[in-house]
Amino acid sequence: MLLKKAVVLGTGSYFPERVLSNAELEKIVDTTDEWITSRTGMKERRIAAKEESASDMGAIAAEKAIQNSDVKAEDLDLIICATLTPDHLFPSTACLIQNKIGAKNAAAFDLSAACSGYVYAMMTAKAYVSSGIYKTVLVVATEKISSIIDYTDRATCVLFGDAATATVVAHREHGLEIIHGCLGADGTGADMLIQPAGGSRMPACQESIDQKLHYLRMEGKDVYKHAVRRMEEVAMKCITDVGMKIEDVGYLIPHQANLRIIEGFAKRFQVPQERVIVNIQRYGNTAAASVGIGFDELLNLKKIKEGETVLMVAFGAGLAWGSLLLQRRGS
Ligand code: ACO
Repeated sequence: MLLKKAVVLGTGSYFPERVLSNAELEKIVDTTDEWITSRTGMKERRIAAKEESASDMGAIAAEKAIQNSDVKAEDLDLIICATLTPDHLFPSTACLIQNKIGAKNAAAFDLSAACSGYVYAMMTAKAYVSSGIYKTVLVVATEKISSIIDYTDRATCVLFGDAATATVVAHREHGLEIIHGCLGADGTGADMLIQPAGGSRMPACQESIDQKLHYLRMEGKDVYKHAVRRMEEVAMKCITDVGMKIEDVGYLIPHQANLRIIEGFAKRFQVPQERVIVNIQRYGNTAAASVGIGFDELLNLKKIKEGETVLMVAFGAGLAWGSLLLQRRGS
């Protein structure tokens, strides 16, 4: 079967207005700006309004991406929404976004891969477009992660922020093409990063609420070690699979979970600082949305030249990880 080219047409992102700074967090829990900055690189993050849901934010990002892609909502064949904070367990957040943006010809489903959600969803979009099953796919990654954070737990509440991002992927002969992707998972690490209650394993009940089991829990140190190892492995596989070398990487978009992980990774991959997308200081860890936001920022700079590559790499709960390689070809 001859595979069709899957090209990025456009992107868009959305951030809630409310800014939660390290200084404010100092007043909520026993932490300091110094600790947060030196351990994570984060300075502030956004928090969605009470009435603002993941689908509301995702729909705004989607509308921007559609506008920037010069397509209409009716042209979309499929919407894939990556999120770990869906509006509901069902119906899917993708269906809610489909309705909000009027994409009446699109199929829609959610994809669960935590912080690797955007990369997993982009890879899925590529598979649909390359196979010819669908022509135009909208990827949305949206998180109201503040809704599952315990703001009395200093180990997690300083780390996360809310945001949404969206990308239109379609078949075109020229443009920023998704040339390869690699995904991986290791379910033996499922307990390291988990929302224990609220699913079928432990439905919501008085006990689960009393024990705060609906909040995100993370073994930070263990996750850190796995993140470093898996991100490097998968990124290396992604470039060597297509015969490229480290020095062929033009721009690097790592998941924004910890500045120390990002800087160590960039150093080992020898990507100069100015070619590594970092926004962790402004948004913290926005889970599934993180890599897509970085990609949107990079595209807005309009710097990617003919032949240059972009390497995305993500890691998160599951454990699940992934890497995606894009290259500008023609126009
Ligand atoms: N303020 C002050 N002190 C704190 C805070 C805080 N906010 N949080 C923890 N501490 C304390 C701890 O209690 C501990 O104190 P102790 O030594 O007296 O016991 C000390 O700081 C060190 O804590 P660690 O957890 O060991 O700190 P570490 O340097 O590992 O940093 C962090 C924690 C930032 C979470 C780091 O481990 C990390 O980035 N992990 C990886 C995160 C990641 O990649 N997640 C994947 C994606 S997320 C997703 O999929 C949803």
